Amino acid sequence: MVPSLVARLGIEHPLIQAPMSGSTTPALVAAVSNAGALGSLGAGYLEPQAILDQAREIRAASGHPFAINLFVLPETFEVDMAAVDAARRALDALMEREGLDVRTVMPARWAPSFAEQFAALCEARPAVASFAFDLISPGQMRQLKQLGIVVVGTATTVAEARAWEELGADAVSLQSAEAGGHRGTFLHEPEEALIGLFALLPLTARAVKIPLIAAGGIMDGRGMLAAEVLGAAASQLGTAFLACPECGAAAAWKHDLAGSTEHDVATIRSFSGRAARGLRNTYVKAMAAIEAELPAYPVTNALTSPLRRAAAAAGRGDLLSEWCGQGAGLSRAMPAGELVAVLMDEYVQARRAFD
Ligand SMILES: Cc1cc2nc3c(=O)[nH]c(=O)nc-3n(C[C@H](O)[C@H](O)[C@H](O)COP(=O)(O)O)c2cc1C
Repeated sequence: MVPSLVARLGIEHPLIQAPMSGSTTPALVAAVSNAGALGSLGAGYLEPQAILDQAREIRAASGHPFAINLFVLPETFEVDMAAVDAARRALDALMEREGLDVRTVMPARWAPSFAEQFAALCEARPAVASFAFDLISPGQMRQLKQLGIVVVGTATTVAEARAWEELGADAVSLQSAEAGGHRGTFLHEPEEALIGLFALLPLTARAVKIPLIAAGGIMDGRGMLAAEVLGAAASQLGTAFLACPECGAAAAWKHDLAGSTEHDVATIRSFSGRAARGLRNTYVKAMAAIEAELPAYPVTNALTSPLRRAAAAAGRGDLLSEWCGQGAGLSRAMPAGELVAVLMDEYVQARRAFD
């Protein structure tokens, strides 16, 4: 372990609960931080006021450091309206076929403004700010440094980790192919950046000096130790926390995770227009033929939002974006604080086995 990162973050354990937009609740973040790890709020889908409100809720429940995470998106982008119309027709037909009584709508905005989210993050002033999908600007980096916020950038390749280091990030969250949720890739095509953790960690450790946070497929304390041996300063676990009662993932999703195998987990573009790892369910199979033609993130993400909300309300996990990493079958349902204690106990036991 590189103790300096854990000390710098002001936490007890080399363990970070991954930000999971749409699923990480203030209760989950607070429970993890109270247990001595670092809880992270996935704020990618939140409007600025919600970021401030949820940061306040976390602080009311925990006096410990926590992270806020954002998706770095351009303020304006081209939208192909013919592709939007075709996507809406396909989604409406699917919802009708599946008996969901909702239809797509044209949203007022495709996604919250990153500039406004960033301003809210600065106002909320968490101990750590982490980012995915792209680099932030040098001016934004300076602003975070002036506020004393530790900056973590997401990288899926050695080149992306170098780019974050050159920009001045304090650490890199190294997202390997096994990882659940959206791919953070920004310098390459997604399929060129699916590198397993056992290769990605030592390759990156050789190339950059800033601390690495291992993310992807780590489900227990043994995995945390293995990541450390390969060069990680800490481990970031997302899927392992999905089954916690404090996690906001839909009940049907939690249920489907428990029964999944490694063969059920695929890279999927059809829910959001951006590659992400999750369960290959009814929706994914139905949309496979037109997946490549769907508009890029965040347009398809906004278009599928009514369907995903209705599916969650109807208990239809098979139509939900059931994001998870390749280790999903190893999930354990228990309160988040308990899970942190179990993971750290396993980590210590695994270390002892090698003494
Ligand atoms: C449900 C879910 C949502 C995620 N949302 C985000 C997010 O909002 N921001 C982010 O940087 N990473 C996000 N990730 C990726 C995690 O940061 C991390 O890379 C991943 O969970 C590690 O792999 P694991 O799920 O196998 O532990 C998400 C992952 C999952 C499973």
